[in-house]
Amino acid sequence: MPFVSTKDMLAGAQQGAYAIGAFNAENMEMVQAIIAAAEAERAPVMIQTTPGTLKYAGPACFAGLVSRLARDAAVPVALHLDHGSSYELAEQCAREGYTSLMIDGSKLPYEENVALTRRVVGMACGLPVEAELGTVGGKEDGMEAKPQYTDPEEAADFVGRTGISSFAVAIGTAHGVYKGEPKLDLERLSAVREKVSIPLVLHGTSGVPEDQVRECIRRGICKVNYATDLRIAFTAGVKKGIEEQPSAFDPKKYLSCGRQAVQERVQELIRLLGSSGKA
Ligand code: 13P
Repeated sequence: MPFVSTKDMLAGAQQGAYAIGAFNAENMEMVQAIIAAAEAERAPVMIQTTPGTLKYAGPACFAGLVSRLARDAAVPVALHLDHGSSYELAEQCAREGYTSLMIDGSKLPYEENVALTRRVVGMACGLPVEAELGTVGGKEDGMEAKPQYTDPEEAADFVGRTGISSFAVAIGTAHGVYKGEPKLDLERLSAVREKVSIPLVLHGTSGVPEDQVRECIRRGICKVNYATDLRIAFTAGVKKGIEEQPSAFDPKKYLSCGRQAVQERVQELIRLLGSSGKA
């Protein structure tokens, strides 16, 4: 299967009323696990990296790895910049071969967010661009944010003026681990859906109860982001691997346990999102 853009994937999800899983990877094992899970479920899949991850291992590393593995994969695989923090980083990712970009100007004043997003859409030359209005709460890349909900009218204006391909809503989800049960503003999601026709994206989904995720998809979410959940699965798998083989010194022995744990979790999540069998 080719290494693909997210355009057709998201259009298919929107038409079929399911969601594409967008899974954050931190290393080779997580990339392998996500692709293996997608193949086992016959699902199109997105792999994404945050600026923090790209500081740890640059865009060339992930673009090289994912594009090569995608070529041999039995399902469509895309590579997306998650929460792109600057024009320069988005440009670098596009140059290295990322097939989809997010520019996150959500903390800027509205007009500055519009201007930055328009610039990135222009630079991207047809690569799909995701952007966000309002703020998803919690911690992402070590930065704490207070949730600020998306205004549906502003969303329509923003999408019209920027030409983005997908739109991330802030409806009460938060990045990281939830302290209590998250309360999502589902009516607001439906109101955004009425005003905005492009695919909608849900951030901060780790820890959101399954019935609420399904309801969000029913109300128009086409891409669902998971990061914390997979970091937890990978770390638990590695810890278990080390406990079970305390004398092992070959990293393959315990990293493969992390890889297995991520594959199992991603398969469960793909089934939840309804994208099983859609490749
Ligand atoms: P979680 O870490 O809560 O799953 O959020 C992931 C995300 O939205 C990445 O953009």
